[in-house]
Amino acid sequence: MAERVVLPLEDRRLKAVFSYPHFSRRHYEAVIGDLRGLGVDGVVLAGELEAGEAKMIGKGCTAVVCLGLMHGLPVAVKIRRSDSCRESLEGEGSNLEFANSFGVGPRLFGVSKNAIAMEHIRGLNLARWLESGPQSETVKYMVREVLEQCHALDSHGLDHGELSNAKKHIIIKEGGGACIIDFESASRTRKCRNLTSVVNYIFFKDSISRLIGLHIGVDRKMLSEIMMRYKASPSDRALGALFSHLKLY
Ligand SMILES: Nc1ncnc2c1ncn2[C@@H]1O[C@H](COP(=O)(O)OP(=O)(O)O)[C@@H](O)[C@H]1O
Ligand SMILES: [Mg+2]
Repeated sequence: MAERVVLPLEDRRLKAVFSYPHFSRRHYEAVIGDLRGLGVDGVVLAGELEAGEAKMIGKGCTAVVCLGLMHGLPVAVKIRRSDSCRESLEGEGSNLEFANSFGVGPRLFGVSKNAIAMEHIRGLNLARWLESGPQSETVKYMVREVLEQCHALDSHGLDHGELSNAKKHIIIKEGGGACIIDFESASRTRKCRNLTSVVNYIFFKDSISRLIGLHIGVDRKMLSEIMMRYKASPSDRALGALFSHLKLY
């Protein structure tokens, strides 16, 4: 295995990550202060994305994500972008903490205005994982996991908000299991559409439904009717009808 390069927070190469995409000394110093407060003491040069001479594991519209070290253990560190329209990541942290209370999302380790430290989810997004040629039984198991987690979100009144195009937000973990990430747009007041959105994404969106169709047979008309019933009453029973149509036992 390649040697792991760990940079201390003050390393100049991390400026491009801590204040992304534009450098602002104020933002950079606020991020470093928050990371210290959270107990993050270093960053591993890891990830497919580059920021100057440093690396990142992910990038979104409001934040970038790098691999940090907390008490010597790897964690995903989400850092507020210098051009983000969100004032703080604290709302996201609180929604993630709530999701964790019923077993959904990466485990939250700490949150502050400019950074979140959470469990690092290693794996592939659902589409890439399907392209890697998994067995049908495993696909069924993962789809069931995703649907169950979406139903749990619906039952607890937490709307994720970005599951209708869930390309980047469902990760199939290397060790098995699915994880829904990014609670940045989540809301506890909006009407919940988690399961409905994800069913649309998985079974009706062209690219992904073709891959899923190799493993799970669906009658789209019946599926729409089942989802109409679920919408009217998002009960365990309605979820059961969905599983039985998809033959996910
Ligand atoms: N806990 C995590 N573990 C592993 N990768 C993550 C984690 N959180 C985010 N990422 C990666 O970082 C990317 C951007 O994170 P995201 O939370 O979607 O940011 P944004 O709120 O800006 O959309 C994701 O698409 C994913 O690839
Ligand atoms: Mg995102």
